[in-house]
Amino acid sequence: MTSVQQVNPRVREIRAPTSLQSQAARITQQITQGAKKPFKKVINVSSGDPHRAGMAPISFVRQVLAVCLYPELLKEKSLPLDVRKRAQRLLEACAGGSVGSYSITSRGAPHVQKSVTEFIMRRDDGVSSHPEDIIISTGSQKTLSLVLHLMANGAGKTQTGVLTPVPCPHTLPSLMDMTGVKLVPYQLIEEGGWAVDLEELHRALKTARGHCEPRAIYISNPGNPTGHVQDRRTIEKVIHFAATEGLVLLAEEVYQDSVFGQDKEFISYKQVLFDMGKKYAEKVELISFHSLSTACMGECGLRGGYMEVINMDPAVNNHLRNMQATSSPPVLSQLALEVMVNPPRPGELSYKKYAQEILHTQTTLAQNAQRAYEFLNGLPGINCQPAMAGVFLYPRLHLPLQMIEEAKMLGVKADVLYCQKLLEEEGVCLGAGCENGQDDQNCHVRICVLAPPAALDEVLARFHLFHLRLLHRFP
Ligand SMILES: Cc1ncc(COP(=O)(O)O)c(C=O)c1O
Repeated sequence: MTSVQQVNPRVREIRAPTSLQSQAARITQQITQGAKKPFKKVINVSSGDPHRAGMAPISFVRQVLAVCLYPELLKEKSLPLDVRKRAQRLLEACAGGSVGSYSITSRGAPHVQKSVTEFIMRRDDGVSSHPEDIIISTGSQKTLSLVLHLMANGAGKTQTGVLTPVPCPHTLPSLMDMTGVKLVPYQLIEEGGWAVDLEELHRALKTARGHCEPRAIYISNPGNPTGHVQDRRTIEKVIHFAATEGLVLLAEEVYQDSVFGQDKEFISYKQVLFDMGKKYAEKVELISFHSLSTACMGECGLRGGYMEVINMDPAVNNHLRNMQATSSPPVLSQLALEVMVNPPRPGELSYKKYAQEILHTQTTLAQNAQRAYEFLNGLPGINCQPAMAGVFLYPRLHLPLQMIEEAKMLGVKADVLYCQKLLEEEGVCLGAGCENGQDDQNCHVRICVLAPPAALDEVLARFHLFHLRLLHRFP
């Protein structure tokens, strides 16, 4: 039989994911089949999936979608009138008045694109936004992969390079491998709360030139997995850097709704770009990504996101829009996106409940992050930077030498071994820092803290038991 590698040699080079997810699935299956474990179930906090962790969906979103899926509910008086009116409007914009029809255009339905632009203009103090610059797809990873596919070119010294923070979102390294672009690492400054350092950007670029052709810089702000929030000054410097070096800015801004650090606020790259004047606003190529899988919506399973494409060559823009020509994004996720960017307003029937639910999520996130931060820094051999936003904490582990030796002997990274042992002994699945692009010298783990407080308590209690036992075993 022909193997995948024979068909596509590049597959061999693609970074293999760590085995933690399959280990978690295997243990869960063993428990279902009656195996005795010291815990009743596996708790997986390795990725930002709030509903999996037990967070509730936002009622307004689900009510509107329920009516769209089953229009008989338009007559259902127990549903608030604004829910039914919104669903009616959304259905009227669907072909044939049904979510079962194909999306009107392959880059997203025009009424959803329009709502997205209105959201962006409200967010960015009136900076203009145009529906033709909005491309909707099945999540921000899909939109990013469309862009990377388009940029991927050359081989060896001419291969497209993308400057990428270390640590970066854990799905990014393999996405880059798969699309054929070279990851050019720039190290974030841990002691500075994982801030971007301009000197480091210059160093990374200089080192990369001659090995590949850097064409873009990827930014995750607010940072995944770091929780860092960039301030206006930093954003200006990064934009200036991109402009001077001729790099496209790829700004992943999916956690813009979840900034909780004191005196911290989300400022979009687009807003700063336009505030920097015509010289930048009309020249620098910027693509900004947003998603339904955010902290507050948490609708990861609906698979929806958009990108806004600024200052791209019209031919490139056109190409990006046509890349989904044969497979338009699902209508239901587009409708959810419309509700996310156009939520109930003060005075509307559903506003109070909507605002309470959002506040509940934001409060839970902020309190959980603080609690986990204090807990982690209270453990010997762990130190953690405070998170200001997003859904992760990303502590550094100072592991015993014997454990590092054991990992070497087994041929695994030490952070992976730590996570494997934690999973086996206590049923908690964390993310290993090496998935976020970090090397052997740096041991970190990734913990999603957006979960009901009781679930997080359970995670921390099991983590505590395991960590102390480990230190006892390897004094
Ligand atoms: C940096 C980053 N990008 C993208 C996503 C979401 O991707 P998608 O919209 O494909 O679910 C997340 C959240 O999980 C993220 O942290």
